[in-house]
Amino acid sequence: SRMVCSLAPGKVILLGEHFVVKGMPAIGAAVTLYARVCVSRGQGRVESRQLGLLLDLSSNTVNDKGLYRVVEELAGRFGLKRDFHATIDSEIPISSGMGSSAAVAVSTTHALLSFAGVEPDKKVVWEVSFEAEKVYHVRPSGVDNTLSTYGGVMVYERGVFNRVKTRWPDDVLIVIADSGVKRSTGSVVADVLNRYDKYSKVMSRIYDAASELVRDAIKSIETGDFARLGELMNINHGLLSSIGVSSRVLESIVWAMRDAGALGAKISGAGRGGIVIGLVETSKVPSVIEKIKSLGLAPLVVQIDDEGVRRA
Ligand code: PMV
Repeated sequence: SRMVCSLAPGKVILLGEHFVVKGMPAIGAAVTLYARVCVSRGQGRVESRQLGLLLDLSSNTVNDKGLYRVVEELAGRFGLKRDFHATIDSEIPISSGMGSSAAVAVSTTHALLSFAGVEPDKKVVWEVSFEAEKVYHVRPSGVDNTLSTYGGVMVYERGVFNRVKTRWPDDVLIVIADSGVKRSTGSVVADVLNRYDKYSKVMSRIYDAASELVRDAIKSIETGDFARLGELMNINHGLLSSIGVSSRVLESIVWAMRDAGALGAKISGAGRGGIVIGLVETSKVPSVIEKIKSLGLAPLVVQIDDEGVRRA
């Protein structure tokens, strides 16, 4: 019998997190870690043992409301029947700001449409996966499902996304180290906004600096000046530290990457926990990996995914 598979990438925020909440630009990138979904004929079931996720429409078992929204939406818009069995596997770390839930929703949408014989238009995949994101997050910015659908490097500002034109070289990699410290994005964002109100004159200057920094970084990416991009990431990390989202653990990871020769290293995402990213030339990757391992962590080495969701 027929089986169709799709894969969709996770993401990192390269620069501008938190500042983006007050209207400054941020840069995100889709990276080469994927959620993969395969669909064959079955009885209305979506499952992932790995993620502990189950939708069984025949027995009304639903432990993931976001994916249930995806199925409802596809049934309403495209007449999706309850004749599928979807299984999900993902390489994307969960609850660390890498867009795992969005990548699962994007790739499930893409695979179910293909299975139903509907050409999976990216705009449709984006719309349906955003419905799932609204179930998972209070006010999703859309960055996770946008990058997972379209791939590449994107600037976003006040809900508008634009692709950064880049031929990202093969010898500049991103090393990811997950601190393993869980945090709630919502409460970190709330703390930052409180600090903003308390020191608004000082903070508004920091936010303006962040905005300039991101504009400079866009040029660096476009012109291929990755040494400059690395330094801008270091400056961005300093600004994130000044708004209160770093920690002793995150600092030690950032400094481990810098000591091992990274072009730049910073917190990525909400901070307090979650991931640190380093911009690393191929020749320095082994020493950066070694240093992170010596901290007891398991590094991931990724490149930019330019394509976004696709058949697998
Ligand atoms: O850690 P993540 O990927 O959930 O990123 C949060 C990014 C923030 O800028 C801190 C919040 C937001 O909504 O943009």
